Amino acid sequence: MDLAAVRHNVGVLRAAAPDAALMAVVKADGYGHGAVAVARAALEAGASWLGVCTLEEALDLRAGGVTAPVLSWLHLSGEDFGPAIAAGVDLAASSREHLAAIVAAARSAGRPARLHLKADTGLSRNGVQPQEWPALLDDAVKAVGDGTVEVVAVWSHLAHADTPDHPTLDRQAALLTDAWQAARDRGLHPIRHLANSAATMTRPDLHFDLVRAGIAVYGLDPLDRPVADSPLRPAMTLRARVVLAKRVPAGEGVSYGHEWTTPRETTLAVVPLGYADGVTRSLNRHGRMRVLINGAVRPVVGRVCMDQIVVDCGDADVREGDHAVLFGPGDDGEPTAQDWADEIGTIHYEVVTGVHGRRVTRTLAGAAW
Ligand SMILES: Cc1ncc(COP(=O)(O)O)c(C=O)c1O
Repeated sequence: MDLAAVRHNVGVLRAAAPDAALMAVVKADGYGHGAVAVARAALEAGASWLGVCTLEEALDLRAGGVTAPVLSWLHLSGEDFGPAIAAGVDLAASSREHLAAIVAAARSAGRPARLHLKADTGLSRNGVQPQEWPALLDDAVKAVGDGTVEVVAVWSHLAHADTPDHPTLDRQAALLTDAWQAARDRGLHPIRHLANSAATMTRPDLHFDLVRAGIAVYGLDPLDRPVADSPLRPAMTLRARVVLAKRVPAGEGVSYGHEWTTPRETTLAVVPLGYADGVTRSLNRHGRMRVLINGAVRPVVGRVCMDQIVVDCGDADVREGDHAVLFGPGDDGEPTAQDWADEIGTIHYEVVTGVHGRRVTRTLAGAAW
């Protein structure tokens, strides 16, 4: 994982939104890259907030020594908010029930909770519907009066951010501004935030006070531009060392089901990563998966197994211990996360967050600490 790339990408985002604060979204263990390491690199490069989904993710950042503002946004109202409030974690309230639970926890903790009131402006996912907004504000104003909460922000999330001129963006922004103005009319002084990576890079009018960027921090282009056309640099490289290389005669079936047969005598290299590690089986369903070994892009042959893949190296001198790159920035011709996403019909978000498990060891390059 290349922390210099993270710092570069944060620089790109800061330049795109110079008048807003930048939140680096590090949920799902930093989109599979390692939340604490990404958080530290992002903060060094000019991010001033961090965003996560769960209370546990927020507390993991605190346990990792991260003291910057952290917003946690996906909770049941029955969760124990006490430790997060004690750790100074900002909390999203997406319903009156959430707000009531956070108020009760703040009272017990003896410390005001920092609240981001979430408006559902059209994603129909998390957040309060416009008709319930006045009642939520009534509750919030009362809690502010009691000294149990501080209303830090009014915020929302976009449905079509990757289509910058989609009409819903303007509609969602207008509804957010209405919700924010209603809070101000009641004497609250919240900031406003709406933009994710795509909107940060394409819609300056939606930056408001804070932008929440995830995927771009990791160098994956939110507008699906090829790596060469993107100002971002992918941070994750997935590599493994060849565990076995051997000559195999012509006519041998390879891997489960023998979907591929050696057409000639050849060297096969076994690479110890499989679907248990995020190398999804469907990557080689059409026999198009490729890996880079010793400077050459070579085909994966036969089915992807739970723990290993087999690579046809022909007559090349490939040996145990040689390095295989499954995906990376693409600089040396290796596939990219976007190539994988295209092959299996998903988005690069799913590719990088899918690489996980105890067998994938994270090594950090470019650490500045
Ligand atoms: C509420 C919220 N804000 C911001 C983001 C960051 O989005 P992106 O990774 O597209 O920048 C996410 C991620 O899905 C999110 O759920």
